[in-house]
Amino acid sequence: MRRVESIAEMRELARGWRAQKTWIGFVPTMGALHAGHLSLVRQAKRDGGVAVVSIFVNPLQFGPNEDFTRYPRDFAGDAARLEEAGADVLFTTTPEEMYPKSFQTHVVPGLLAEPLCGASRPGHFRGVTTVVAKLFHFVAPHQAYFGQKDFQQARVLQQMVDDLGFDLVLRILPTVREADGLALSSRNHYLTAVERAAAPALHGALQAVREAFDRGERATARLAAAGRERLARSGAFRLDYLEVRDDATLALPERLADGGVAAAAAFLGKTRLIDNVLLGDAARRLG
Ligand code: PAJ
Repeated sequence: MRRVESIAEMRELARGWRAQKTWIGFVPTMGALHAGHLSLVRQAKRDGGVAVVSIFVNPLQFGPNEDFTRYPRDFAGDAARLEEAGADVLFTTTPEEMYPKSFQTHVVPGLLAEPLCGASRPGHFRGVTTVVAKLFHFVAPHQAYFGQKDFQQARVLQQMVDDLGFDLVLRILPTVREADGLALSSRNHYLTAVERAAAPALHGALQAVREAFDRGERATARLAAAGRERLARSGAFRLDYLEVRDDATLALPERLADGGVAAAAAFLGKTRLIDNVLLGDAARRLG
């Protein structure tokens, strides 16, 4: 695996690949890699060509009271895991190179970024779209891979690709979970043993929504209430949101048709976890 540590070197490499018609797959990450990230890398490898993985803890997508400085960093472990998963290039850069003092231009997402995590984390998605747009320019991928775990992020980025005409295909791959249902996340490192034991209740609550949907319930308010009740019964979480929305527009209809998304964010102590499940036909629309 080749290590690339500057934007200029990454651009140069991508330019060469493009000239040779080499297919480029790209997985952007913030590191502290787990099996969820690696599933994206393995898919990129299976799709052929070269697989580029970036690790950049992006200050622009963290709020002032969030966990930027203590976000888990394990560069040596990440490099070993990527080598093992078959990545061809590990691209890293510094905040100073990404955002020099003169930096002043952002990519501002629209309606898709307003509800759910966008409402709880002002400016978060603007930070994500801005950094991913830059990364897309440096790596020049034909295809880029994202996890369903961050469903709203993937939707916001697909919209950015469509709206701004990025010449690439964006893939969304299923959430990788622990055996007890907890979605893998770099932030799971923060959990104490007691919190870790309680954590699967978040997925359990979303499963309760799916069960209600599968029984025929279509009213979004009642579907969401079923999930919130289940989470409240676990007693461990402080709810940020649990909502049932249209899986394409993230709008809030009174009733779902053939599918939708149930998405939640909740705190265990200081740690904010997110998860979502697709309802009905929504999973088939993921692509
Ligand atoms: P990060 O949280 O490191 O996630 C990188 C990618 O891995 C994202 O596409 C995310 O959805 C995916 N991922 C995380 N957990 C997963 C799981 N359990 N199963 C499947 N995929 C999973 O998301 C970011 O970084 C950043 O916002 C980024 C896009 C890199 C921009 O800074």
